[in-house]
Amino acid sequence: MSTYNPVTPEIARELADIVGERHVVYADEERLASYAHDEVADLSLAHPPEVVVKPASAREVAAIMRLANRELIPVTPRGAGSGLSCGAVPVFGGILLSTERMNRILEIDTENMVVVVEPGVITNEINQAVEPYGLFYAGYPMSVESCTIGGNVAENAGGGRAIKYGVTGRYVLGLEVVLPTGEIVQLGGKRVKDVTGYDLLHLMVGSEGTLGIFTSIILRLLPLPRTRAVLLVPFADVAAAVAAVPRIMTQGRMIPTSIEFMDRLSVQTAYDYLGESPPHPNIGAMLLIEVDGYDRSQIEAECNAVVDICLEAGALDVYVGDNPAAERRMWRPRQNLAEAFKLICPVQSLEDIVVPPAHITALMPELERLSRQYEVLIPCYGHAGDGNLHATIIKRPETPMEEWEERLPQVLTELYRTVARLGGTISGEHGIGSKRLEYLPLVMDEALIALHRRIKAAFDPNHILNPGKIFQVTVTSKVTVT
Ligand code: LAC
Ligand code: ZN
Repeated sequence: MSTYNPVTPEIARELADIVGERHVVYADEERLASYAHDEVADLSLAHPPEVVVKPASAREVAAIMRLANRELIPVTPRGAGSGLSCGAVPVFGGILLSTERMNRILEIDTENMVVVVEPGVITNEINQAVEPYGLFYAGYPMSVESCTIGGNVAENAGGGRAIKYGVTGRYVLGLEVVLPTGEIVQLGGKRVKDVTGYDLLHLMVGSEGTLGIFTSIILRLLPLPRTRAVLLVPFADVAAAVAAVPRIMTQGRMIPTSIEFMDRLSVQTAYDYLGESPPHPNIGAMLLIEVDGYDRSQIEAECNAVVDICLEAGALDVYVGDNPAAERRMWRPRQNLAEAFKLICPVQSLEDIVVPPAHITALMPELERLSRQYEVLIPCYGHAGDGNLHATIIKRPETPMEEWEERLPQVLTELYRTVARLGGTISGEHGIGSKRLEYLPLVMDEALIALHRRIKAAFDPNHILNPGKIFQVTVTSKVTVT
């Protein structure tokens, strides 16, 4: 399918002229290899770039895109490489455009309650910078300490606070974007409302690096909540834990900041990983609930309501943490889960299926059924309040690799069909990337995929920006862009 051209030493030279010699990695297999994968465990999905370039400005990014169009070389943008769908993997080689040098916080505008950042800023650093002003950026992917904001916007990252605060896109007010054809455009601005033309800003959000490269991002901030509390709630079984989730919101008349869920194997693995004992000997599932707000008495009332509802729903106990050290301790098992699962077996497929929240109850027995039928482990944890769950398909250590390779696509196909039947879809927050590309037709009909292709062609006639992601494209003949 590909008619892309290779990166010759002359082209590497030209790239060095654009960004500076020091900011190009070429003909250095070892360094290029570190840009070949993201956090997806299956390294057969990895692919090294031919060259890495590290531009420092929109102007440099634009020059790279013009060169790439002229030479018909694919370009893959990359933030921290913490993604989970191979979104930043240069599947056709070519140029890997790393945003690592574009890591400045450009402006904290307290009056308009926005922050303007470059794409390579680590997400957590945004909050560290705005907190002294009594402000807060509500996006909270679980990799907040390592991921970058550009990647969060490209994937429309969700995470552990989406139930109350929504996902990244809710906070993106403006973007400076280098289009695949090299023009620099401004979308949105420091405006809370804007219905001028198509909402291209939010077409960019979640476009997985296929429609443009963000060079600056305007994010909406909120007043920093003054107080919060975390509740850790063990249950004897999954069904009771899951049933408590909607009740917390309807009966409790509140939207907690987070409602995270872990099943038995997740709990066990997380605590084993930390070398600690689980919070209750009969634990079969666990909820981690966080509430935050501006008024301590309201937080106390909300905590009391959560305690009552969970006990009524069959919780074995409820532990409340209301100081930073206790909160951190309670979050630790959840935050380390993806890493902890590697203890069981590093061969695995971390999924981020999403169903309407009330259908989690129907989904859980299906996971059980699939794990028995295909003799794989499928521990499950995730953002129960959103219906977005990280069912992780893990090879049993004793299963031979060939059998696993044959089984995994079957398990994924059945899993995805099941979530679709429940009104869900195959990715809630990690994206399709190249990891799930072949499965997209299971949840999206042909007319809609064709529309995606036409949108892609309108932005990127030569299909050079992050090809091989979301859906396949075919490069036919070269279009000259200026
Ligand atoms: C999490 C990542 C895997 O929620 O999305 O931990
Ligand atoms: Zn998640």
